Amino acid sequence: MTRPFASGAMARANALVGRWMTEAGMAVRVDAAGNLVGHLPGTDPDAGTLLMGSHLDSVRDAGPFDGPLGVLVAVACVERLRAEDVGLPFALDVLGFSDEEGLRFGTAYLGSRAIAGTLDAALLEQADDDGVTIGEALAAFGAEPSAIAGASRRETRLLGYVEVHIEQGPVLEQRGAAVGVVSAIAGATRAEVRLTGRAGHAGTVPMDLRRDAACALAEFVLAVESTARAEPGLVATVGRLAALPGAPNVVPGAAVASLDVRHAEDHVRATAVGALRDRAGAIAAARGLRLTWEARLDQPAVAVDARLSDLLAGAVAELGLPEVRLSSGAGHDAVALADLTGVAMLFVRCAGGVSHHPDESVEAADVAVALDVIDRFVRRLAR
Ligand code: HGY
Ligand code: MN
Ligand code: MN
Repeated sequence: MTRPFASGAMARANALVGRWMTEAGMAVRVDAAGNLVGHLPGTDPDAGTLLMGSHLDSVRDAGPFDGPLGVLVAVACVERLRAEDVGLPFALDVLGFSDEEGLRFGTAYLGSRAIAGTLDAALLEQADDDGVTIGEALAAFGAEPSAIAGASRRETRLLGYVEVHIEQGPVLEQRGAAVGVVSAIAGATRAEVRLTGRAGHAGTVPMDLRRDAACALAEFVLAVESTARAEPGLVATVGRLAALPGAPNVVPGAAVASLDVRHAEDHVRATAVGALRDRAGAIAAARGLRLTWEARLDQPAVAVDARLSDLLAGAVAELGLPEVRLSSGAGHDAVALADLTGVAMLFVRCAGGVSHHPDESVEAADVAVALDVIDRFVRRLAR
């Protein structure tokens, strides 16, 4: 399953989840950034709005729960409140963000940054591998890129944002806990690294005369791994790489790689990224190649809102469950919304910590616990 930003798969997901939101009694719309928004008014128009949800886009060949689980638990929470005729004073907006993963445009948090009012409109000119820009993709999707500033919720009185998400790691399983409250979200750097040498005939160019970009990139990829292994808590990944022009009998004249570096401490991440950029430059110089390094994301680590997180932990305790707090190595839309309002996250145990893979799975009983926690959370928030 692959559901990129502003794709046909995304349109089908918005239509299906939108129907469930409507059935749960919400007013449904798609905003100018392609986010799905379900709105349930509160009983007191001055009581503000609580944002809930997660993302509906996916990575390539994804699992079914990374993102959608958080959207559907939020919809189920609204459904339960309505079924029990519970009228909360504040409004609830359930959000299905349009682009958390950045699969299509190499960005991240497009939808949630639009809602946070921090999206740089210049980004609309960024193009995908087919040369389609974000603005064109949004227009083709039926959204209104010129009105993207209108997706911002900066003018709304917000009580906060709470997101349910699969843990995407092994901690809850190891601790025997169905759910855990997130204590912090690691910072992340993304970049595109291009090495340019000289293409040539694979049969005629002598080895000592080559400027083979693929060999240079291979050296860089191993440097990424060794740099991350040497620093506790640092993770770094080259998830996508290409040798160009990509013919078996042509010495690659260029090579392109994605880089993803993360750490809980921003200064550690910055030092590692700087070292890797220097290393790429040294490799290029030693081989007579040219380096271009294009920064795509520099996302600081995010602190969660203490009050909202304690309310989540209190809801867990009310259910007689063990209180587990854990940090997140993965990024989430909460990262972008932290620029707008206080954020809190609840992780759900996932089998083997597997994610970004079709084998991603959760237990229905654990999802039921998460729904109970969120239900009690919103009722505690209303007290
Ligand atoms: O990459 C991440 O951490 C998230 O899955 N977008
Ligand atoms: Mn996710
Ligand atoms: Mn993900």
